[in-house]
Amino acid sequence: MIKIKSCELDKVCGLNSKIPRHMQNEYVLCGRSNVGKSSFINTICNRKNYAHTSKTPGKTRTINYYLINDKFYLVDLPGYGFAKASTKEQNDWAVFINDYFKNSESIEEIIMLVDIRHEPSKDDVNMFDWILNTTGFEPIVIATKSDKLKKTEIKKNVEHIRKTFNASDELVIIPFSSETKDGVEAVLKYLFEN
Ligand code: GTP
Ligand code: MG
Repeated sequence: MIKIKSCELDKVCGLNSKIPRHMQNEYVLCGRSNVGKSSFINTICNRKNYAHTSKTPGKTRTINYYLINDKFYLVDLPGYGFAKASTKEQNDWAVFINDYFKNSESIEEIIMLVDIRHEPSKDDVNMFDWILNTTGFEPIVIATKSDKLKKTEIKKNVEHIRKTFNASDELVIIPFSSETKDGVEAVLKYLFEN
């Protein structure tokens, strides 16, 4: 079985930081606030609360670079749609994240997280389309919180997500749970074998 041997918070970027350059590839995590991005990192790295998670949305307000096995980065972006952040802060972050996507030279893959229970929101669809049109990457989709659904519902909702993103059968959608570890192996396989 593939295992993550080391996971190290290597760089933290705030709004005034320069986007870092390095040799390693980046796998970028994006998705709305509270969808489970930080939990995803903790789960695949087998850590408890290394990437800080919270019941309150808006926990991650920086771009965090986690170096995995000294080999590649998982990049934890701040979630969008965090209503409590001021409009100015939300706009500043939107600009910064746009810059990041346009300027980073190391992006290998974009991983978009959506909650498996709900139809992707307008923001999710806009983000997906924007990524596709601006970067040329089709994100892979992690459908989080699969522990909240029955098996039969999981399949149904995955196809619903595909439809809402207007995506082909080729779009990779992996049901995932930080509670039951559903999807962990599939994700690790994807990260290490691609
Ligand atoms: P921001 O940092 O605000 O962008 O949020 P985030 O996307 O990093 O979300 P985070 O990982 O902090 O998780 C938000 C909440 O969802 C926490 O209360 C988690 O415990 C919960 N959560 C995350 N993943 C799962 C999951 O797979 N199953 C269940 N049941 N809860 C989850
Ligand atoms: Mg977070």
